[in-house]
Amino acid sequence: MHNIAILGFGTVGSGLGEALLTDRERLARHLGDGLDIKYILDLREFPGHPLGDRVVHDFNIILNDPEIELVAEMMGGSHPAYDFSLAALKAGKHVVTSNKEVVANFGAELLETARQNGVRYLFEASVGGGIPVLRPIINEAVLHEVRSVRGILNGTTNYILTQMRIHGTPFADALSAAQSMGYAEANPTADVDGLDAARKIVILAALAFGVIVKPDDIPVKGIRDVRPEDLQAAGACGGTLKLIGSASRECGGLLISVRPCFVRHDRLLAHVDDVFNAVSVDTGVLGEVVYYGAGAGKLPTAAAVEADITDILSGSVQSQEALTWKAGSRDDLCDASLVSYSWFISGGTDSRITEPMTEEAVKKLCAAGQNYYPCL
Ligand code: HSE
Repeated sequence: MHNIAILGFGTVGSGLGEALLTDRERLARHLGDGLDIKYILDLREFPGHPLGDRVVHDFNIILNDPEIELVAEMMGGSHPAYDFSLAALKAGKHVVTSNKEVVANFGAELLETARQNGVRYLFEASVGGGIPVLRPIINEAVLHEVRSVRGILNGTTNYILTQMRIHGTPFADALSAAQSMGYAEANPTADVDGLDAARKIVILAALAFGVIVKPDDIPVKGIRDVRPEDLQAAGACGGTLKLIGSASRECGGLLISVRPCFVRHDRLLAHVDDVFNAVSVDTGVLGEVVYYGAGAGKLPTAAAVEADITDILSGSVQSQEALTWKAGSRDDLCDASLVSYSWFISGGTDSRITEPMTEEAVKKLCAAGQNYYPCL
């Protein structure tokens, strides 16, 4: 019997419990042995829940139980999620997580600790919800030079922008709907102001380029200033506006950012709507590959965690040997103000696409009340 523990029984943790119960027989066939959720760590009780008798309130019970092979950290937030993950890895237990905040801020250390202790630290669910996107990028980066990774990485803001564009839904109403569907973070400002996407793009950049920088060190702009009229004007100019996380090599460093961008209708990303996410990876040999699927939500995210668990317990993880992240700093980043793009200027009938220029130059071109967005 494989014994595991779930830390945190909120949206994703309870989704994982549900998925593992539903798939119990299939998993046992695949693993050649049963899988039992021996403990669930949470501050709350869950009377009447089929797993309610597994609830404990002291992490040390899990840490000190030699039968626990794997810990699924679904707590969210940095602490104590990071501390518990580190302790579990040091105790020789595998850790899987959906917690992008911990992976983005402590991933280099946790991967190294896993390696030193002969266990795995996997986090497929931390980016793109249910989309299996991290493993293909790891495998691709081993073979080929990755030129860029770009994507729609936050389901909540993509849902809001879609509702604003198609139905003219006010921002606050669209955000409430995203919250009620379990897409938004506990504090939805992390979604709306781009921090959630920033955590995800630094993880993707680390997979592609081997250096992980802090989300706080990259330029980040959310969707608060996007107006319904900007979305309309973008449509008239042959595109739409999407919150894009982007990482590429430019001017001798890494250019990593999150900001709303103009995406032409002939790009696949322009057609990724609602809670869906998509990640576009460009390698010299393969060209552009786009991964698409549900970017948030209880069961899609739980399914990605479940995939990590089964890969580890069946011994089929190979990709992690390639995962060595250097902890980076601002010195690894290139100065975004030096880079030229074409820009979409939103200004009613005066809306237009510019020639490539720097942000400082486009700012000077814009009249009061005009918004500008880089073109993807
Ligand atoms: N709040 C996140 C989103 C959840 O909306 O994409 C998935 O990471």
